[in-house]
Amino acid sequence: MADLNELKKNAGILAANKIESGMTVGLGTGSTAAYMVARLGERVQNEGLKITAVSTSWSTTIQCRQLGIPLMDLGDAEHLDIAIDGADEIDPQKNLIKGRGAAHLLEKIVASMADTYIIIADNGKKVKQLGEKFAVPLEILPGAIGAVSAKVKKLGALVTVRLGAPGKDGPVISDSGNLIADAKFGPITDPEKLDFELNRIPGLLGHGLFIGMTDKAILAAENGLEEF
Ligand code: A5P
Repeated sequence: MADLNELKKNAGILAANKIESGMTVGLGTGSTAAYMVARLGERVQNEGLKITAVSTSWSTTIQCRQLGIPLMDLGDAEHLDIAIDGADEIDPQKNLIKGRGAAHLLEKIVASMADTYIIIADNGKKVKQLGEKFAVPLEILPGAIGAVSAKVKKLGALVTVRLGAPGKDGPVISDSGNLIADAKFGPITDPEKLDFELNRIPGLLGHGLFIGMTDKAILAAENGLEEF
């Protein structure tokens, strides 16, 4: 059986090889995105690939600095040619759940700025319905934790504040200084409707449903790469 990391790496390399000199590129977060960033770093160093990247997390920023990938502040960018990221679940319409690593707020902003949004993953991330395996991650303004949790519970979820980051007691704090919670809905029959409902909760700064955003998915399986 193929190693999961090999599959993630294959998808990451294929996506990084699509980048051309002169592009502005949004870089996602997570173990699959890290393989893509590593390959981009190789291309910058060995081929003289000229890109400007925008990062979605401290984790990716640190990797870019180590590899010499030129970065621009998110706040200085208005538009990106392409963004590439991983996902936790992907359904047949290429809708996603993201945010296992608590980067979903910045990831969604970056995805929304890109002409082309590419998702890379191992094919174990495929689901028939979003929510089959993962809860929907939330990023919440700390002062609104009570109000937001109550509203999300009313939509039918079990809401838990994410705890236990290694090396820190208490809640996980996002790169933007907010609380992270996970909303377990189970299989989501109408993701568009849930997206709409979540988007209208004040204090809920971001959530991990990415609906209608993905242009292309590159999924790696033992028998090769599937693009759809
Ligand atoms: C980060 O918060 C997430 O959205 C990741 O992009 C997602 O969890 C995929 O990560 P892996 O590639 O590590 O599975």
